[in-house]
Amino acid sequence: MERKYIIKGRKPLKGEIEVSGAKNASLPAICATLLAPGLYKLKNVPKVRDVFNMLKIMESLGATYEFKKDYVEINTEKVESVFIPYELASQMRASILFLGALVGGFKSAIVPMPGGCAIGKRPVDFHIKGISQLGGNIQLEKGNLVVSAKKLKGTQIVLDFPSVTATENLMMAACLAEGETIIKNSAKEPEVIFLGEMLKKMGAEIKGLGEDTIYIKGKKKLKPVNIEIIPDRIEAGTYLVLGALMEENEVVVKNIKKEHLKTPILKLEEIGITLEDVGKDALRVKRGRILNPVKIITAPYPGFPTDLQPFFTILLTQAEGISFITENIFENRFLYVYELKRMGAEIEVENRTAIIKGPTPLMGSPVKATDLRAGAALVLAGLMAENTTTVYNVEFIERGYENFVEKLLSLGADIKVEEDES
Ligand code: EPU
Repeated sequence: MERKYIIKGRKPLKGEIEVSGAKNASLPAICATLLAPGLYKLKNVPKVRDVFNMLKIMESLGATYEFKKDYVEINTEKVESVFIPYELASQMRASILFLGALVGGFKSAIVPMPGGCAIGKRPVDFHIKGISQLGGNIQLEKGNLVVSAKKLKGTQIVLDFPSVTATENLMMAACLAEGETIIKNSAKEPEVIFLGEMLKKMGAEIKGLGEDTIYIKGKKKLKPVNIEIIPDRIEAGTYLVLGALMEENEVVVKNIKKEHLKTPILKLEEIGITLEDVGKDALRVKRGRILNPVKIITAPYPGFPTDLQPFFTILLTQAEGISFITENIFENRFLYVYELKRMGAEIEVENRTAIIKGPTPLMGSPVKATDLRAGAALVLAGLMAENTTTVYNVEFIERGYENFVEKLLSLGADIKVEEDES
């Protein structure tokens, strides 16, 4: 079965669109339920493929879960296995988060070593090094990272780069280590802070969240909690760009945490987009006739997020002049540019920089999603393009966007889903 979206472009988009809970906050939160056996309620978890996949892995470990009205209930009382099956783990790199959670909760783990990926090499050396510094003995056996630890002992860890999931893994393991762990050059993303807050609610002692150095005093035991997932800042950014694509659009994005989007909002304003506050957590997007070209460099938070890079490329094809986007986080995140060029965009990629010449009208054409964000960005390109665009491999998009098609339809988009036997 192959799913595709068929989009008839240039329909004005009007109305309100609501941001869901953050995928990248939900995934570590689900793993963290392994740190203390018991019953958890996670509110606002988005119903997306990566979440379902992670819950399936939880089930394979012995946990149970159930979606209730607006939360998912997870019971980890009966978890016995620490073995993550390759068939499920290979579908998502975030399965590496089981490493810290299982080593913290069970002092052992068997987690498939992630392979290559469509946006870059994405090694896990920081994760491995940090866990071994905490006392984990790690061997690579038949493609699995096999970890055992007599006990975990707090230590000082310096990350070579502020990796999001490495910081999350090390925080989870360190919460149940003996003594103090200091993580230097730690990631400051809102999702990392969110996990830290969840761990604190579970009884962990953590200081320095959102700063360069995180201090964790290990505890003997943690307790289950109920928590609410933060809104998805990348989904919010996606819809802000969507609203900015055409002059006729009148889009209000709701449930948006503006403080998590300071840099992308500044960039939108520099491009010439007006964002009007309409209530505490909502923004109305308006664009003028002319858009300004800009320079963007992706960087760890609070810098410009790599996950929003493809959306800004689409928008900047409409700016008057030459824009530059430099991708500093992942080495291979411009694959979608070659699809976009088939729609008429004038973009050259030199090393890690995309040079975008605008404005160029986009023409509908068949295109292929190469990863989650690139796929959603191509849908946005299709919504702005003349005639019909067919986006293939939309399974990528459904990994991370809740009710994507339904939300677009509610704004008046002409988009339909088709499934091919293949
Ligand atoms: N890196 C290493 N060694 C490591 C870990 C990371 O060299 O052991 C490098 C990576 O190769 C990359 C850089 O460090 O060049 C930063 O990667 P990071 O580890 O921060 O990324 P991640 O934790 O694997 C998370 C998100 C990504 C998001 C990045 C960057 C989750 C589950 N994933 O990935 O989200 O792009 O941070 O912000 O939180 C997405 O949602 O589409 C997505 C890809």
